[in-house]
Order: sequence, then C-alpha cells, then structure tokens
Amino acid sequence: MTPQGPPGAPDDDLRSAHVAPRLHTGRFGRPYHFLPTCASTNDEVAAHARRDAAEGLVVTADQQTGGRGRLGRTWHSPAGENLYLSLLLRPACAPSALPPLTLLAGAVAAKILTDWNLRPTLKWPNDILLPTKDGPRKVAGILTEMASDQHRIRHVVLGMGINVNSLGFPSDISARATSLRLFAGRPLDRAALLLAFLQAFETSYDRLMVEGPAYAIETWRNYAALGGRCRVEREGKMLEGLALDVDDDGALKVLDDRGQIHRVVSGEIT
Ligand code: BTN
Repeated sequence: MTPQGPPGAPDDDLRSAHVAPRLHTGRFGRPYHFLPTCASTNDEVAAHARRDAAEGLVVTADQQTGGRGRLGRTWHSPAGENLYLSLLLRPACAPSALPPLTLLAGAVAAKILTDWNLRPTLKWPNDILLPTKDGPRKVAGILTEMASDQHRIRHVVLGMGINVNSLGFPSDISARATSLRLFAGRPLDRAALLLAFLQAFETSYDRLMVEGPAYAIETWRNYAALGGRCRVEREGKMLEGLALDVDDDGALKVLDDRGQIHRVVSGEIT
C-alpha cells in the first residue's frame, strides 16, 4: 500500500448502513453489528458464539460501560471517540496457538497505522504504543478470550480497543495513554480504521492458518520494541533483564543479569 496520511474524521460513522457497503472482506465483518452502547463488545460476541455464530462476526460499539482490558483492568470506553471492536474466530487449532494470533492482530493494526504515517511500536504481548514527548504511550490493546476443550479451540473472541480521538484520559491512566488524534494533531476516521483492519487481518489470519505461528512472529517483529531493559512480575517475583526476542510460540525471552534466558508466557512488562 502507498503510504498516505490518515483519513480525517468527516466520515466517522460506525453504523452498519455506513460500514457494510464499504466492506470488501470475504468473512470478517459478516455479519457486522454496531451497538450505540453495551457492557463489552467481547461479551456480545461471546454470546453470539455460544449460539453457533460463524467465524467473522464483528460487533463494534460507540461506548462500552464495562470495557475490559487484560489482567482484570478496565478499558476506558467513552462514547463518540474511539474504536471498540470484537471479532469471532474459530481457528482449527490447539489453544497454544492463541498467543501468536494475538501478536498477529497487533502487528496488522501497527502496519495500518504505519501506512497512515503514524509511528507505532508493539510492546509484548499486546500493546500498541505511539511516541510522545514524554516517551512511548499506549494507544491500543488487544484482549483475546477463548472457549476451548482440552485440545481444541471452540471459539476465540479477539477484542481490540484503539484510542482514536480521545483528547484526555482518567487520572489513573493519563500518564500512560495517548490517542491517534493526539499524535496526528487532527481527528481520525474510526470507520476507515475498522474497515482497513478487517480487510488486512482477514488476509493475515488466513496466512497464519496455512503458514503457522512463524508468520505471526515474523510480522510482529517488524514493529516490536525489543532489546531494551524490562521488568516483569512472575509468580510474585520480579524478573529484570533484556527483552531479547519472542519464541516460536509467542513467549517473550528475557535475558537476566546473570546471563540466563527466561521464557515469559504472560504478565505485564514495564
Ligand atoms: C488491554 O490492553 O488490556 C486490552 C484492551 C482491550 C479492549 C477491547 S475494547 C473492545 C473489546 N471489548 C472489551 O471489553 N475489551 C476489548
């Protein structure tokens, strides 16, 4: 794709009548449901999944009253500003395939933002950051939730929140959060971002299903902030070292100060 400036906001309308005619995917966004408000788009999609909805169903909302992040956190979800989207997937693979899938979704979003001349980086496992004068700040996150049997995924709900047009944040996150608008200096189009993501992620997801996790890891590395010092809390203990790379299964490899490499499969990196 030719790099271009990000689309502005005049067309910023997530309602179905506006989005559906502009959707050029095979499955993703079919069907597409827009809700003016809901507790969490992930919950809405999970309810559809339990009623046997097919892969590709998408729910977006203008506002979430119970938006969730990883590690039990709240996701700031005011009306009229940002993108809250959840996508139903039914990958024919084992639960261990989930981390690469999440990494790939972040990488696809980062590629779109890069094409729009924003400058995203990815922080393991699922944060998208933008540079600010006070250092990198979080602009988007992914919450992947799954229902599975022991060896097989029944469904995955991939939820993504992108701070598109927020100009301010609650005090508990204001020192860590930013938005596309704060970076670009003008409002951006949520619908254009949604359409670009569904289109690109469908293609990438299909490749992942054929090529396997190495494809996701390679794509993620293109935008990843690796090589810096990090701290991660694991099982109540603090691990400090260099964030070296990501393993074949999506685990983060951290080199501690005694030269030992640790695999981190979940947690918060600072
Ligand atoms: C994180 O960074 O902790 C993940 C944030 C995920 C937020 C999105 S918004 C759409 C979907 N619905 C939710 O309740 N959460 C995800």
